[in-house]
Amino acid sequence: MEKQIVTPNRSLTTETEKLLNAQIGLEGLSSSYYLAMASWCDKSGYATSAEFLYRHSEEERQHMLRLFRYVNDAGGHAIHPDITGVKYDFKSLREVFEDILHHEIEVTKSINNLVDHCFSIKDFTTFHFLQWFVTEQREEETLARRAVELFDLIGEDGVGLWTIDNEIGKLESFAAGNAGDTPAV
Ligand code: FEO
Repeated sequence: MEKQIVTPNRSLTTETEKLLNAQIGLEGLSSSYYLAMASWCDKSGYATSAEFLYRHSEEERQHMLRLFRYVNDAGGHAIHPDITGVKYDFKSLREVFEDILHHEIEVTKSINNLVDHCFSIKDFTTFHFLQWFVTEQREEETLARRAVELFDLIGEDGVGLWTIDNEIGKLESFAAGNAGDTPAV
């Protein structure tokens, strides 16, 4: 019997699909995490930080959807992540923004590993797609770091926390203006 030659119907490898689905999980976790933070800020009276985080949660969901569409367009299967155990209680507003900074650094590492993987297997299509996330992470880390710095610059005594909460609202435009070619969400 003649040997049948099977032509792959996609260039996306199983390993890359798995890594992209892991990134989907991380973006989904970010969205849930920031929603939980928004709720804590809201009930604690930090109205500006709450609005900032409600918006940020939605942005992270859009990041997840961007990956969903790419995986499916490339012939893979984007899987909705199981998200449990999301931290919902915080000792202070400072802790919220320190957690965001540490979380975003982990997201950056994950994106970098994904980009490195794509480059190493010469999947330049996915490599190119991921550049949007590389730029986005630069902006998000800057934003979180600037927020954490406010606590030392302004101080938390007296009207300090109220002032910090208000200043948080100004950070998005600052970070966007310093991110160079800022990607749209
Ligand atoms: Fe989409 Fe903040 O990582």
